[in-house]
Amino acid sequence: MSSVPISRETLVSAASATDVEAAWLDRLLLAACEMPVAEGEVAVVAFLVRAVGEIFPTFGVGACLVTPPPRSSSSPDATLPSPGEQRLFKYVPDGEEHRALGVDPTRMFPGFAYERVLEVEPHGTTLHISSDDARVEEHDTPMMHVVRRAALALERGLGLARAHAKATADARELRVLNSHMVQAEKLASLGQIAAGVVHELNNPLTSIVAYTDWLIRKAGPTGDPDSLERLRRIGESSSRILRFTRDLVAYARPSSEVPVPVSIRHVIEQALAFCEHVIAQHGADVERVFGDDVPTVRGMPEQLVQVFVNLFTNACHAMPADGGVLAVSTQLNEERTHVIVFVDDNGHGIATDHLQAIFAPFFTTKVDGRGTGLGLSIVKNIVDNHGAEIRAERSASGGARFVLAFPTAGA
Ligand SMILES: Nc1ncnc2c1ncn2[C@@H]1O[C@H](COP(=O)(O)OP(=O)(O)OP(=O)(O)O)[C@@H](O)[C@H]1O
Ligand SMILES: [Mg+2]
Repeated sequence: MSSVPISRETLVSAASATDVEAAWLDRLLLAACEMPVAEGEVAVVAFLVRAVGEIFPTFGVGACLVTPPPRSSSSPDATLPSPGEQRLFKYVPDGEEHRALGVDPTRMFPGFAYERVLEVEPHGTTLHISSDDARVEEHDTPMMHVVRRAALALERGLGLARAHAKATADARELRVLNSHMVQAEKLASLGQIAAGVVHELNNPLTSIVAYTDWLIRKAGPTGDPDSLERLRRIGESSSRILRFTRDLVAYARPSSEVPVPVSIRHVIEQALAFCEHVIAQHGADVERVFGDDVPTVRGMPEQLVQVFVNLFTNACHAMPADGGVLAVSTQLNEERTHVIVFVDDNGHGIATDHLQAIFAPFFTTKVDGRGTGLGLSIVKNIVDNHGAEIRAERSASGGARFVLAFPTAGA
């Protein structure tokens, strides 16, 4: 944008200035059309201050942008300054100075004797024009016609920028909602497929497991060791398929259980009983520390047992071959609003960049199809359904620690 050569005299006097004024208005109109509304209100103010500054290069031109509080906290926009923030913009020939200041925004140009402040928005953003010439304060000069129009253009630009930011945030929210819906639909179809798979597989698999068991018992301890080993492998593999199909159903099927007051300690004991086999298989020692004052939580007991069965099973799988320690402890938080449960093991631990990913469906580091990666995503689903929280971290021994927080029944 090149500036029309003007003198201060021409600027502030109304006489014979129609042509100059028309030229300024042309340039302002062009600038108003080019305002970068898609880049946000900061960009719009900076742009307009620059445009007005280039039209009136010998004057002090600036603006104070006041950002209104966001309408909805669910659509924060990182490009917007925080609510109520003031930013001052000053035109300087090689780029606009722009900073957030706590100074009096009615006096942006203390170097000049006079400063005219135009309200762009009620009790908000202002446009400033400053000079040593007292006539800058007069109302009916060609310059002030242009500046008033610049204030109107800025008001419009700010409105458009905010509308654009809101539309972008809405579109983003819509995309997130959409992806949640797609995920929910996927789960629903996964549930239907799983139910079908389980139905078809359950009976033959149960027969395989039962007959393998029967054959092992029939062969007795004196049977051919190689054949016995093969039978055991058949039994283990079929049990694994059974577990997988049940996990799939548990993952996708809505539960019909209703919430009741539950003792977390009781849930943990039940889960430990269920895991007796895997605990013994991995030579794990179980340590329990149950806080005395731990109240009940509200929840679905069967689902809560499933949470701890999955956590204990994982802990055992991660343990060293010569055994390890599985430590479970419960306590009431200081505010007495949540029951906190710690599940620690001294296994191989979880890589730092996996600490979040482990809760995603089908995430597994277990090789040869030993893990389906559904265990922790089931845990996460159940925990979420209980309004509870879970996170994974490193335990003191370098193994894994899971921390769960359940709202107490009275909370
Ligand atoms: N206590 C633990 N110690 C170390 N790694 C763990 C522990 N618990 C979970 N993990 C990691 O998280 C991954 C996901 O666990 P998750 O229970 O979801 O699936 P999985 O155990 O691999 O398979 P499955 O569906 O049979 O449970 C595991 O593969 C493992 O890498
Ligand atoms: Mg698991």
